[in-house]
Amino acid sequence: MKDKDKEVGKLIKEEERRQKDTINLIASENFVSQNGREAIGSVFCNKYSEGYPGKRYYAGNEVVDTLEQLTQNRALKLYKLSPKKWGVNVQALSGAAANFWAYFALVPLGEKIMGQELSHGGHLTHGAPVSHTSKIWTWVHYPVDSSTHRFEYDAIMELAKKEKPRLIVAGASAYSRIIDFKKFRKIADTVGAYLMVDMAHIAGLIAGGIHPSPFPYADIVTTTTHKTLRGTRGALILFKKEFEKEINKSVFPAGQGGPHDHQTAAIAVALNEAMRPSFKIYVRQIVQNAKALAGFLKAKGYAIITGGTDNHLFLIDVTKKGMSGNDAQNLLEHAGITVNKNGIPYDTRKPMDPSGIRIGTPAVTTRGMREKEMRAISEMIDDILMERIRPEIMKARVKKFVKKFPTP
Ligand SMILES: Cc1ncc(COP(=O)(O)O)c(C=O)c1O
Repeated sequence: MKDKDKEVGKLIKEEERRQKDTINLIASENFVSQNGREAIGSVFCNKYSEGYPGKRYYAGNEVVDTLEQLTQNRALKLYKLSPKKWGVNVQALSGAAANFWAYFALVPLGEKIMGQELSHGGHLTHGAPVSHTSKIWTWVHYPVDSSTHRFEYDAIMELAKKEKPRLIVAGASAYSRIIDFKKFRKIADTVGAYLMVDMAHIAGLIAGGIHPSPFPYADIVTTTTHKTLRGTRGALILFKKEFEKEINKSVFPAGQGGPHDHQTAAIAVALNEAMRPSFKIYVRQIVQNAKALAGFLKAKGYAIITGGTDNHLFLIDVTKKGMSGNDAQNLLEHAGITVNKNGIPYDTRKPMDPSGIRIGTPAVTTRGMREKEMRAISEMIDDILMERIRPEIMKARVKKFVKKFPTP
């Protein structure tokens, strides 16, 4: 920022420094490309374009119309969807909003939705008590199995048969195993429910072909664009054509005002990047890194929930090492390693100081780190949590370590 707003300019520099000098293991974060950042800071932020391409409430949308259609086409192309069978809305302002608009489109107020229990890895907008979603619809939650901490699909089927929800949500914020969308489809069909997949966390892995696709099975797929998909913040709602009218109406005019066209431009950039062959290599490496990091930590005696991972993240029950999730998060943060505290399935501790931490590898993989660096990171984590090295000393070490791995 050219000495226009010194205060904000200083904070941007400080944040840039923080991001460059630390190891980011937050599973839902990533680094956006320069092109994505340029798009979100572009003149599209000056425009208002309530409505949809060809049907706007404001004049001057000829360029925005082309942009929105380009973004839609790229989303369908990335997920190999026929425009005859699938459509996409690119206007939802965030993943939470996308979920709200999808539920409003498909489920009458007060009717029943089934989703994954928040404390077992689901998301707030999947009917958590603190979320408005829990007040607008009636929810029933499926757990993970109490011993394997994985989905027990027969038990989910039985619950669905008993509860008969109108819609079933599959998709998670903290589940480290492959989700079997075919089984969820069977459950939905058995009880006559719609199947909605919230693929926010694994959207990039699906695009890169390393997690099975939900599209052969789902009616609606929502996602954020800023996690493994590596775009700027935003969301997509992909739908079977039969739901087009309802979804589009639900987003605008029922749910939102004008779309953020600068966000649309940046999403288009991310979708294009995700179609490149190099993106496939990138997501493969994310998963290899997560498996490696989980493996190294397990070898040091850390209790990895489900014993490992199939995707970009995993949970550790740190109480087995004599500390809470908060303690672990804080110790690591002081040492320049960023993770988030997280509940573990059947947690007996409170959400503000749970038993676990969540670790993800999308951001460090974007910086070019591989298995060798995962070994080094596992050692740093262990040295800090076991208090062998003081955080401020480790912080300097981390800063030196990450220097070789530029941020975009
Ligand atoms: C599964 C899932 N859905 C939805 C969201 C919400 O996305 P946003 O923060 O963009 O509203 C998240 C974010 O963490 C998520 O993990």
